[in-house]
Amino acid sequence: MNYQAFKLSKYPQGKITMDIFDQVSLPMPALKEGEFLVKQTHMSLDPAMRTWLQERDDSYMPPVQIGEVMRSYGVGEVVESLNPRFPAGSRVVGVTGWSEYVLGNEEMAVIDPSVSAEAVLSIFYITGLTAYAGLMKIGMPKKGETLVVTGAAGSVGSLVGQLAKAEGLRVVGITGSDEKCKWLVDELGFDAAINYKSDNLEAQLNAAAPNGVDIFYENTGGPIQEIIFNQLNRFGRVIVCGVIADYDNAIPAKGPSWVDINLKSLRVQGFIATDYLEISDEAVSVLGNYLAQGKIQYKTHTVEGFESLPEGLMMLFKGENTGKFVVKF
Ligand SMILES: NC(=O)c1ccc[n+]([C@@H]2O[C@H](COP(=O)([O-])OP(=O)(O)OC[C@H]3O[C@@H](n4cnc5c(N)ncnc54)[C@H](OP(=O)(O)O)[C@@H]3O)[C@@H](O)[C@H]2O)c1
Repeated sequence: MNYQAFKLSKYPQGKITMDIFDQVSLPMPALKEGEFLVKQTHMSLDPAMRTWLQERDDSYMPPVQIGEVMRSYGVGEVVESLNPRFPAGSRVVGVTGWSEYVLGNEEMAVIDPSVSAEAVLSIFYITGLTAYAGLMKIGMPKKGETLVVTGAAGSVGSLVGQLAKAEGLRVVGITGSDEKCKWLVDELGFDAAINYKSDNLEAQLNAAAPNGVDIFYENTGGPIQEIIFNQLNRFGRVIVCGVIADYDNAIPAKGPSWVDINLKSLRVQGFIATDYLEISDEAVSVLGNYLAQGKIQYKTHTVEGFESLPEGLMMLFKGENTGKFVVKF
């Protein structure tokens, strides 16, 4: 029996295009002692995938190589096992790949049967750890402060904003449509939301954050970055989680002024969620409690079908998702 997979056929030049992936049919592996076979059911699509297609050797992960199956995170069911830690019938989450079946690895986590794949990918895995570690460990939020988060209607941003609200902050979300702004304020309880594609952004931010900005959780980059940066208060913190507006560009946009970092005693820190794996249990516990109390909620943008993977990845860069992007098959 064979299964389907997508291999990288060439690196993208600028935007991701369909032709950088080849759909192939691969033979099912025969298991050796200690191995287990996972049938994927839900796959996470992440902007980070674009950075895994950058030919650089100094990032936190090596780039996907030409001819390799595209890397991803996913949830699946163990269908065959020669490893007692991962018995057949259990569900797992971990680093997988764009393929219907994957050989499991020891870093995978077994999922509690009561938790849905959507909840795992939205809250209890990398997305939740990213929001939690970035905000709580780097942002060091204090009740009454003002937080601005970009990419606010996406999976990380929507969680960051809700977590900050639960921690007693004033929260302003930046996103790319009026409909998403409405969702942030009406459904998620953000204090204000700004469409970065509208006019008079500086005045809008002034009105939304009248006491200035204490924490800037950066998910996107783009022209709004400088406007937010300029409204940071003294001792402000900038959490550089992602810069999606720059992932397609060979030469990224220039950063903010070091003079302001100096004179306002700002802290600007980039991070990668997997550097914080040791606090995963803490993140799961805090986010789980807030979820149970109704203080945070999640939304998935689910697309069906294995063939949807390349197109789905492109949708992230066009802002076509609200909440966590999941491909189900
Ligand atoms: N540091 C880490 O360990 C880590 C972990 C996970 C994610 N991240 C980063 O966090 C960010 C958010 O990731 P996510 O998974 O939550 O994705 P996401 O926000 O669910 O999806 C991406 C969103 O980015 C926005 N966007 C796309 N192109 C843009 C542009 N040129 N300018 C401004 N906004 C743009 C779109 O929303 P709009 O409609 O609002 O434009 C789109 O829906 C990404 O930069 C990602 O790389 C970092």
